[in-house]
Amino acid sequence: MTVINAEVKERLVQIAGQVRENAYAPYSNYRVGAAVLMADGSIETGINVENASYGLSICAERVAFTTAVAKGKRNFAAIAVVTSSDEAAAPCGACRQFMSEFNGELLIIMSNEKGASKTVTLDKLLPMQFDKSFLS
Ligand code: THU
Repeated sequence: MTVINAEVKERLVQIAGQVRENAYAPYSNYRVGAAVLMADGSIETGINVENASYGLSICAERVAFTTAVAKGKRNFAAIAVVTSSDEAAAPCGACRQFMSEFNGELLIIMSNEKGASKTVTLDKLLPMQFDKSFLS
């Protein structure tokens, strides 16, 4: 399991909060910002992007992951997700599965605008993961 220090955690949350301003969420008005920390220490970001055809909307977590993968980065260590929820919100089920492709024990930092924060690992949010080992 990845352990990150308080300073790095704080920076990741701050970056997720900043990028959240770019969220495109005119339908739900629920803006989400995400920042992923790679094993090499670099950080990539994502925001939710909605669509008039609602079902095409994509979550901030998956945008952050695909942004990193497009740059050849696959060693995910942690993700910070910032929302406006009163209780720091956990990633949706689709994102849990999507992220598990790359790190089944990813560190997930869930925060809200007011600074409330919870940290868990992905295996807690998604036990008994379906992964490539089943594809035989
Ligand atoms: N959303 C995320 O970006 N991440 C999640 O884990 C949960 C939901 C977005 C999708 C949609 O744009 C809005 O939040 C409301 O569901």
